[in-house]
Amino acid sequence: MCGIVGYIGYEQATPFLLKGLEKLEYRGYDSAGIAVFNGNRIEVIKSKGELKNLRETVSKHKIEGTVGIGHTRWATHGRPSDINSHPHKSCSGKFAVVHNGIIENYIQLKNKLMNKNINFVSETDTEVIAQLLEYYYKGDIIDAIIKVMSRMEGSYALGIINSDNPDEIIAVRKESPLIIGIGDGENYIASDIPAILSKTRNIYRLENNEIAVLKRDSVKVYNLDKELINKEKIYIDWDISAAEKGGYEHFMFKEIMEQPKAMRSTISSRVKDYDINFDDVKITVDQLKNLRKIFIVACGSAYHAGVVGKYVIEKLIKIPVEVDIASEFRYREPIVDENTLVIAISQSGETADTKAGVIKAKELGARVLSIVNVVGSAIAMESDDVIYTLAGPEIAVATTKAYSTQLAVLYMLALKFAKLLDKLSDEQYKYYIDELNALPDKIEQILSNKEDIQYFASKYFNCKSVFFIGRNIDYAISLEGSLKLKEISYIHSEAYAAGELKHGTISLIEDGTFVIALATQDFLFDKMVSNIKEVTTRGAVVLGLSCGHENELKAVTNFQFFIPKACDIMLPSLAVVPLQLFAYYVSSMKGCDIDKPRNLAKSVTVE
Ligand code: AGP
Repeated sequence: MCGIVGYIGYEQATPFLLKGLEKLEYRGYDSAGIAVFNGNRIEVIKSKGELKNLRETVSKHKIEGTVGIGHTRWATHGRPSDINSHPHKSCSGKFAVVHNGIIENYIQLKNKLMNKNINFVSETDTEVIAQLLEYYYKGDIIDAIIKVMSRMEGSYALGIINSDNPDEIIAVRKESPLIIGIGDGENYIASDIPAILSKTRNIYRLENNEIAVLKRDSVKVYNLDKELINKEKIYIDWDISAAEKGGYEHFMFKEIMEQPKAMRSTISSRVKDYDINFDDVKITVDQLKNLRKIFIVACGSAYHAGVVGKYVIEKLIKIPVEVDIASEFRYREPIVDENTLVIAISQSGETADTKAGVIKAKELGARVLSIVNVVGSAIAMESDDVIYTLAGPEIAVATTKAYSTQLAVLYMLALKFAKLLDKLSDEQYKYYIDELNALPDKIEQILSNKEDIQYFASKYFNCKSVFFIGRNIDYAISLEGSLKLKEISYIHSEAYAAGELKHGTISLIEDGTFVIALATQDFLFDKMVSNIKEVTTRGAVVLGLSCGHENELKAVTNFQFFIPKACDIMLPSLAVVPLQLFAYYVSSMKGCDIDKPRNLAKSVTVE
């Protein structure tokens, strides 16, 4: 997704803008630029490609000024190019705009302006915003912005500077996230916290249809009626190192290694003396008893966590669970009513499809509980209840620790609900809590054997495709293992329910095809052995992953990786770790951009 930064203060703006954009690189981008008011006019420097290209250009052409905005662009309208990069200026140069989001009716608006002989230089929707601002500006910037907002359809986070009011930055939000950093004699705007954390821990989160006016010594926020809004100041208690690599080569590896700590934080925040505290979740026991169905709605890895959640919740609570990809859920007619609970899972809390799914679920009368990693994010604010995963900031595009803590929350929620519905005896409840508390140490144990995974990766990093197969809850983990490999190593991969292979896909298995077979579920081990034999007899090379049956697994596979034992429903938290490491090492050996994979963004805030 695009990244926005802005600075107004008494220091030179350029250094902060460049540093802030660097902190947002993880969001994924293909070009970058800055605009600074130099005392007379707005100067813009922007370039296609990585931030280092912009730095190089800026070093040759310094811009002096203490008010500026910056942007990293993830192209949606108009190919990556210098001219399509942001910031975009209006035709007179009076306005400069940076934008994250999509203006869905930009073509119509652009045509209307072109019919009034307003010339455009780029292919972007964002330039239309800059031209519209100039077109409607009659001396009051807020009036102009409100008018422009009334014409635009779609999503936008905007940073705006204008040469008529050089001592202010305007920030506007509709759907796409935008925060205001509150400094001392200076203020900031940013798409995300890491960009401003070195300057301040005090922020405002802009909500939809709010307009902020930042001056050096004040921040005022207005609604569409131009009424002042009192904003709640949020204190960000992240340690700064959390948003840094901390000596690791990649954020992804750091975050894989942080999983034991993230799991401990998430579990210990709820589990106290053999009870799980969900007092902040306002679902009553009567509402639980009346539940007829649970939907889990999410995207990507969060969806995969939901698939694990299905097996766990149905086993413990005996309520039917339907897991739906958010972009599908929002456009079909799901059977949802007041006896439905919709669980939305999202690391960023800003994923457009998941947020739309939450809104749809509420319109249909369901209660919505979200599992989110970013405090105060849009999905959290839209939900009736929110449970935060305490994974800390996750910077790598490929999620690891946030995914793992999503599983931990799903285990705790299912256990708590099962206890409230008398589906579990005290002994069973305590057994599962002991199993839950043991997970972080077991993950640590797996991480201490990470070199074994590195060895497999060294043998197979050049393979053309990898099949992940598993049954039951192992199938859910196969989905996540396959996505991890695809998104950071660009190797084609498929996840398959092992019992389904013979219904078609097994035709793809040939000599040398690499298969990772998950066989952690004891009651299905023999079935998995049969499936492994199905592929090995057709030439496949198989890495078997299990928590026992050492001799049997060694007899039917080429390589094996064993994880510690745990209760069936919690084995996914252990099985996923070697798959994360496999993807990481393969990608590293292929020389891929692990933290910022091509075409991907950390938070997909547009459809
Ligand atoms: C996971 O590694 C991917 N980066 C992606 O699938 C991600 O899980 C998905 O976009 C959902 O993001 P969210 O959890 O922030 O909603």
